[in-house]
Amino acid sequence: MSEVWPGRRVLVVDDDQSSRRFFRSVLEGEGYQVEEARNGLEALELILTYPVDLVLLDIMLEGMDGIEVCVRLKADERTRLVPVVLVTALTELEERIKGIEAGADDFLSKPVSRLELLARVRSLVHLKRMNERLDSAESTILALARAVEAKDNYTEGHTERVAFYASSLGRRLNVSGPTLQVLEKAGIMHDVGKIGISDVILNKPGELNPEEWRVVKQHPAIGENICRPLRSLGQLLDVIRHHHERVDGQGYPDGLRGEEITLESRIVAIADAYDAMTTDRPYRKRLSREEAVRLLQEGAGVQWDKDLVREFIQLLAELGKY
Ligand SMILES: [Fe+2]
Repeated sequence: MSEVWPGRRVLVVDDDQSSRRFFRSVLEGEGYQVEEARNGLEALELILTYPVDLVLLDIMLEGMDGIEVCVRLKADERTRLVPVVLVTALTELEERIKGIEAGADDFLSKPVSRLELLARVRSLVHLKRMNERLDSAESTILALARAVEAKDNYTEGHTERVAFYASSLGRRLNVSGPTLQVLEKAGIMHDVGKIGISDVILNKPGELNPEEWRVVKQHPAIGENICRPLRSLGQLLDVIRHHHERVDGQGYPDGLRGEEITLESRIVAIADAYDAMTTDRPYRKRLSREEAVRLLQEGAGVQWDKDLVREFIQLLAELGKY
C-alpha cells in the first residue's frame, strides 16, 4: 500500500540520535515531514509552534519521561487530539498500562520494525485526518467504532483496512465525491452495533452455536438504532444496517436482493469480507490471499455483487496484494 496522504507531519521525541535518524529516514521515505525533539520540554514547546499529525514518543527520556509528556499532551485542549505512539524498549505490561492511562493511542516496541512503524503511523494519521472532517455526530460514532475495535479482538486496523479497500474500490468505479466519503467513513463505522454484543460471544474461540449467531446477527440493526437519531449520517446509516445483506436475498437483517442493496453497502460487504478472511479470528487462522480471492469468486453473484467482486480482485492485483 503506497502512502496516499503525503505531507503529513510527525514529531519524533527521542534522546537517542540514532533512533531519531532511523525514524526520520523511514518516515521521510514515505513522504512525511519529520520534526525532532530531544526531550519532553522541547517536544511540548515545538508542538505548539508546529502543529503535527502524530507524535512518536520514547518512554525513557532524560528528565520528564514519555508518560508525563503524553499526559500533558492529552490534557491540553490544543494538542489532545494529536495521536501519540509510545515507543518503549520494554514490553512489560506495567509500562503499557501506564501508557494507556496516560492516554497513548498506540505502542511500538524497540527495536522498531520499519513495516510496523509505517503501519501504525499511517493508520493513526488517517484516523486523525478523518476525525478532522467529521461533524460532531460522526465523531461520536467514530469514538464508538474505535471502542468496538478494542472490544472485538479483530487484528488491529481492521476498520481502517475496510475503509481503504472500500474507498479504493469506489475510486476505481468513479463514484461521486460524497459517495467516496461515505465509503471511507462506513469502513470505519459499519460494525458500530457490536457495541451492543457481548465480547464473550465476539471473541469466542470456536464456532458459534445457533443462539450466539442469532445474537451476533443483531449488530446491524443495533448499529442503526444507535445512529438513527444522528440525521446527518445519511447514507452511512444504510451501510451500518445493510452490510451483511447478500445479493441472493439470504443475508440479514432484511433479506434484500441484488440492487435493492445500495452500491455503498454492496461495496463495504466485499471489503469487510475480504479483510475478515485474511485476518486471524478467534475461531480460525487467516486464509491466504489466494484462498480469500477464490472464496470471493465462489460467492460472486450469490453472496456478493459479481461485477464488484471482479473489480475488487483487479484492484487487489493492482495493489500488489494478489
Ligand atoms: Fe458487521
